[in-house]
Amino acid sequence: MSTILDKIDLSSLPKHIAIIMDGNGRWAKSNGKPRIFGHRNGVKSVRTVTEAASKIGIEHLTLYAFSTENWNRPKTEVNALMHLLVETVKKELKTLHKNDIKLEAIGDLKQLPKKTYDALLEGIELTKSNKKMTLNLALNYSSRWEITEATRAIAQKVKNGDIQTDEISADMISQHLTTSKIPDPELLIRTSGEHRVSNYLLWQIAYTEFYFTDIFWPDFGENELYEAILGYQNRERRFGRISEQLD
Ligand code: FPP
Repeated sequence: MSTILDKIDLSSLPKHIAIIMDGNGRWAKSNGKPRIFGHRNGVKSVRTVTEAASKIGIEHLTLYAFSTENWNRPKTEVNALMHLLVETVKKELKTLHKNDIKLEAIGDLKQLPKKTYDALLEGIELTKSNKKMTLNLALNYSSRWEITEATRAIAQKVKNGDIQTDEISADMISQHLTTSKIPDPELLIRTSGEHRVSNYLLWQIAYTEFYFTDIFWPDFGENELYEAILGYQNRERRFGRISEQLD
């Protein structure tokens, strides 16, 4: 029996997939449960999707776990999410390490609660030499924060006389972003039927293919990931050229 995985061309996978995991709250509501129940089930999807991505050979997976705007949620939900993060990182760390997955995080990490920050740093340190895949958590992250920080750093270099303004290039800006070590995502997935980018990787998604699905994040699993990759592989990426100019 042919599966979705059989239809994927493993020789032309996206190297980097970014995901906006959305719909945990609505999923919980539709099951008559509190929002945190949705987040807990969202963690199951994080595990499933991480395993599936690593299994087929995706090199970088960046998950939007907490935005700078998420602090505006009710305090009980913010606390529960922070707790869930610590719990998940601690619980999953050995499995990540065993599977040769490197944990990374992008965002204003120093502003996270100490317990969350410490758990994250411990995970990053333990897995830093792993090679199979990078699992990058966007935490207390927003693009406007990141671009502002990059602008400040570059302006400081100009002020110090280390660089001239005409040396500032798109490449230099990329090098000052939190994603400087990884390629831009070829595919951005957003679940739950929302069609927005919500301050996520704005610079990096200049040529990214978007894939939107109505499925809520806790229902997004292995097959749903493969469907998204298949959708991506069926598109023609022209980068401003015309079809006839492509191979
Ligand atoms: C969006 O659903 C989800 C979040 C803001 C948090 C995502 C967090 C997790 C999946 C759990 C922890 C993650 C890791 C990496 C361990 P929503 O609450 O916005 O749902 P709604 O739009 O239906 O209200």
